[in-house]
Amino acid sequence: MARSTNQRPHISARAAALQGNSLGELFQLARERGAIDMALGTPGYPEPAAGIIQAAHDALGAGRNQYVFPPGDLALRERIAEGLPTPTDPRTEVTVTVGATEALCIALLAVIDPGDEVVLLDPGYEQFRAAITLAGGVPRSVALREPDWRLEPADLAAAFGPRTRAVLLNSPGNPTGRVLTPQELGSIAELAQTWDTTVICDEVYGSFVFDGRLSTSITEVPGLAERSIVVGSLSKDYAISGWRLGFLRADAERTKTLRHVQEVTTNGTAAPLQVAVGAAAASADLKVAAEEMARRRDLALEIFTGMGMRITPAEGGCFLLADVSALTGGRMDGRAFTFELLDATGVLVVPGASSFADPARGANYVRIAFNRQVGVLDEVARRVRSFRPAGEQRGV
Ligand SMILES: Cc1ncc(COP(=O)(O)O)c(C=O)c1O
Repeated sequence: MARSTNQRPHISARAAALQGNSLGELFQLARERGAIDMALGTPGYPEPAAGIIQAAHDALGAGRNQYVFPPGDLALRERIAEGLPTPTDPRTEVTVTVGATEALCIALLAVIDPGDEVVLLDPGYEQFRAAITLAGGVPRSVALREPDWRLEPADLAAAFGPRTRAVLLNSPGNPTGRVLTPQELGSIAELAQTWDTTVICDEVYGSFVFDGRLSTSITEVPGLAERSIVVGSLSKDYAISGWRLGFLRADAERTKTLRHVQEVTTNGTAAPLQVAVGAAAASADLKVAAEEMARRRDLALEIFTGMGMRITPAEGGCFLLADVSALTGGRMDGRAFTFELLDATGVLVVPGASSFADPARGANYVRIAFNRQVGVLDEVARRVRSFRPAGEQRGV
């Protein structure tokens, strides 16, 4: 019998499990208000190097408009390999992707079978749980300990088991700003070896590490290196998030499989834009950019702790995870606070709950992006100066 057309369309369990973006209403309101966006990681700093824009014009003008070799333009892969901390063969170990977002999906699809477990740190980038689910995997979260989001070896060990297929890390982390220490990476390596798991690490903020810390790539850690897949991005280093350029770095054998998956997902990303980055003179001086980013972190800390938020300073990346409970006196959660701040000041932050496996654990947090121009941060400071959440006397 033919199916009735009134039936709701069938969707897969994987798709049905995705939550979608719950903040549409907030972003719509922010647009209407012309708010200052301190919510998203879209780079306001650094700026795209002028040479890169010209190179894109040139590539388009030169007719570089057709398919290229799916794993990416070789000059770009060479440039990416040069920027990595460990020797990397651009021909066999680097694959250019549609942003880190596609890289992450490819990595998971290449490693996970339905029902396999993936260990990840919590709070974390909300895309991670969604991408694991879409790949048919089961997220196993390890709660980082408040207030400074340290990883307890015992908590980590408890998450591993016979169904663990992969560990998904992110250092420096979104939203915590944590940079995993060599000790933490060492304990992950021990468990990864014991349970023979693949280790995927999102290192998109690897260039932005502060206060003299060293950013350690998993490719530098014995026990992790041999089982590593690095997810990288040009979105942040080059401030070209709209170009959708990212990459995967893995050994030649894993790379073969990753490329097979990529042939199915996108078969490669925008040819002229790849050519442009490969041909442009050089990226921004990332050492200077990291120092400048730390200056912005300090400005943002001053503004938001000055309001009464409790924040553990980010060690890297571009986000602060801020506890607003002292500021609100517990009278409202992070979501209500976000709406009130937007309403009263035209400054948009984002509720932190969606970064947590258990939203209740993140109820009192908001996330703030500080990769902004200093002038923007000054304007934020001016706008929030006399803000008091409802229930508090204003203008005191
Ligand atoms: C941790 C993390 N990974 C990946 C991305 C997305 O990277 P891309 O623009 O290369 O897809 C973001 C964006 O904010 C992020 O915070």
